[in-house]
Amino acid sequence: MHTPVLLEKVLNKANLEGKKNFIDWTLWLWWHSKKIFEKFPQIKIFWIDQDEKNILLAKKNLEKIWKNLKIIKNNFANIEKICEQENIKWEVDCILLDIWVASTHFDQWERGFSFQNDGPLDMRMDTTATKTARNVINNYHEQDLFIIFKKYWEEPSARKIAKKICEKRKIETIKTSEELKNLIAEIINPKFLNSTLKRIFQAIRIEVNDELWVLEKWLEWACEVLAPWWRIIVISYHSLEDRIVKKFFRNEEKNCICPPIVPICICNKKQRLKITTKKPIIPTEEEIEKNPRSRSAKMRIAEKI
Ligand SMILES: C[S@@+](CC[C@H](N)C(=O)[O-])C[C@H]1O[C@@H](n2cnc3c(N)ncnc32)[C@H](O)[C@@H]1O
Repeated sequence: MHTPVLLEKVLNKANLEGKKNFIDWTLWLWWHSKKIFEKFPQIKIFWIDQDEKNILLAKKNLEKIWKNLKIIKNNFANIEKICEQENIKWEVDCILLDIWVASTHFDQWERGFSFQNDGPLDMRMDTTATKTARNVINNYHEQDLFIIFKKYWEEPSARKIAKKICEKRKIETIKTSEELKNLIAEIINPKFLNSTLKRIFQAIRIEVNDELWVLEKWLEWACEVLAPWWRIIVISYHSLEDRIVKKFFRNEEKNCICPPIVPICICNKKQRLKITTKKPIIPTEEEIEKNPRSRSAKMRIAEKI
């Protein structure tokens, strides 16, 4: 039995007593939403995920059981279009974004997310998207590969690895996670190999799924299109994402962002959010022990004003 990350905190903070609508932007195996629905049965839930397999599973299992349910396959970056199509723009009470890949992505070897299994270099969460890890590895310019490895994870061997990939692909296309792993193993000290592979595979995955860009876009649009009173809960799992959320929330709590030397406000910025978690909420030791994958989770909450 899987326990959703920070479940009790999500249930307590969602503020859904007597409310109508909840959107879960990252459905996966519906663990959070299932508990929310059990606690607040009056709620209508919109579920979004970009992974076809998750959607099919959810449809098969859930639509017949719960009438108050709408399952949508889409990328949450398309928030504006989704809200318009589903006419949910002005009625939302709480939204949850529990980002990142799901553990099942790593378990499905054929999707190439993990360097611990051999599989085709794919790494798409949305299997209908056109950009795959194979495209990135075989077509990106050496300098762009270097930037991705360096920018996302400060990989110390970024330059060396980008060069090695480009040398190898001149001879033959790099097709599998095993091939990529082996060529990195040729130039990295075995002592640091696992941590290097972890960083490189994560960096490629972030690039394939445009993960940081979609998060920024979603935050911006969520703030723009949804009406006052909604509450936004974001759970992120690594520092790059958490930094984006923290910075966005802080910026949107400000009324003016003019530099101090400007005597009168010229930016015309208006406060749009009120942060309700000054510090991120993190799992307890007990939760981490039960579910080690929750270790890096950070939850931040804000309200539209
Ligand atoms: C950590 S899981 C969510 C777990 C879920 N809260 C639960 O309790 O079962 C993250 C899910 O978000 C989905 N996802 C990630 N990025 C997405 C995006 N840009 N648009 C839509 N879904 C996305 C993944 O396919 C994955 O199923």
